[in-house]
Amino acid sequence: MTKNNIKTLSLLAFEAQKNSHSPYSNFKVGAALITPTGDVFSGCNVESAAFPLGQCAEATAIGNMVSNGHKRISHIVIASPNEDFCFPCGGCRQKIAEFAPDETQVTMVTQSGEIHETTIGELLPNAFRAHDLEK
Ligand code: THU
Repeated sequence: MTKNNIKTLSLLAFEAQKNSHSPYSNFKVGAALITPTGDVFSGCNVESAAFPLGQCAEATAIGNMVSNGHKRISHIVIASPNEDFCFPCGGCRQKIAEFAPDETQVTMVTQSGEIHETTIGELLPNAFRAHDLEK
């Protein structure tokens, strides 16, 4: 993925992050992804007074993607609210893997623009995927 795409997706993730509804954790997260067709979708975390119902930024971005008729992630960027990288939680790793083969790029970006690049295969080795249901 080009540096341009990281820049574009970072900007979209930071924009979505501004809309984060996180009054309980005060931890604002943004995510943005691009599909093989070049379509981009973003999302923020959405918390609830009923705490377990909160949704991560990655899940919101994926929901936006699927709602718009796309089912493949080429690259996803996650924006943290501070200077630490916000690695996707375990549940979000599984949600990303649903739409992304192992080599799919996952990039974490901090507020000052530091980046850490990895892949979903590194974050979730031996992921359980749809084809496992066919065996
Ligand atoms: N959060 C995300 O949105 N993405 C992550 O990858 C990790 C955590 C959110 C969930 C919750 O709203 C807040 O950050 C604190 O856990």
